[in-house]
Amino acid sequence: MGNSLLNSQGLTVKFGGLTALSDLNFSLEKGELLGLIGPNGSGKTTCFNTITGIYRQAAGTTSLLGKDITGFTPQQIYKCGITRTFQRLRLAVALSVFDNLLIGDSSSLNTNLFFNLFQRSKLKQEIEKKINKVKKIISVFNPALVDKLYEPVSKLSMIDRRRIEVCRALISDPKVLLLDEPSAGMTQEETRDFMNDLHEIKTKSPDLGIILIEHEMNVIESVTDRCIVLSYGKKISEGSFKDVSRNPSVRTAYLGED
Ligand SMILES: Nc1ncnc2c1ncn2[C@@H]1O[C@H](COP(=O)(O)OP(=O)(O)OP(=O)(O)O)[C@@H](O)[C@H]1O
Ligand SMILES: [Mg+2]
Repeated sequence: MGNSLLNSQGLTVKFGGLTALSDLNFSLEKGELLGLIGPNGSGKTTCFNTITGIYRQAAGTTSLLGKDITGFTPQQIYKCGITRTFQRLRLAVALSVFDNLLIGDSSSLNTNLFFNLFQRSKLKQEIEKKINKVKKIISVFNPALVDKLYEPVSKLSMIDRRRIEVCRALISDPKVLLLDEPSAGMTQEETRDFMNDLHEIKTKSPDLGIILIEHEMNVIESVTDRCIVLSYGKKISEGSFKDVSRNPSVRTAYLGED
């Protein structure tokens, strides 16, 4: 436990009378891909929103590499190295791929007027460095995207939009990446390609810990090292996909039967 990358203990989140997350304990190790699954409304997105400081927990703590980050603001948590994608895409579709990626860079460009006016060569160097970083990251996913760097996101396919969102989350070199239903809206073929992208990310960043929320069970089966199953905000099972999929309470939660 002490060596965990991310560790949450007793996470509880309430919305009025509704307990959306109830005493959740989990940990994520370096290099691990953890699946977070469960029926609609079981608390998966709430878990991400709480880890990233968007929602306040009624109880519980979260630590990153042993450092307590409970109660940190979303910006502080981002700076500590936890980034995410959203269930509904949050890209500025009228802006270019490059602009959308730059938004995700914590060490954004120097906006000091003096610097921009009088140190043009340094500014040019800074911009070139950013462009190269962006190109390197997106070429991992789809080398053809490098040629679309200055095209508006509105012209891209769903899978390329998702890729841009993941690239944006990766550009700050995070320690933890949280993916909320990345395959939503993709065709089966796109979903397969996206699974290969995930393998590629893991190979390129062996220390990165990833938590994946996903409804497509074949994605969960093929990419996760371990799974946690939520039902009504409670963890009802944990283990390999094979183990959790055999668990009777998981089947009941999904089928809504007793
Ligand atoms: N901001 C909020 N205010 C009130 N209730 C909320 C809020 N966010 C989530 N909830 C409620 O908390 C519960 C868990 O929602 P959550 O979005 O975490 O589920 P989920 O597992 O991500 O579901 P889905 O698979 O549909 O995305 C639901 O009952 C939901 O209505
Ligand atoms: Mg959700």
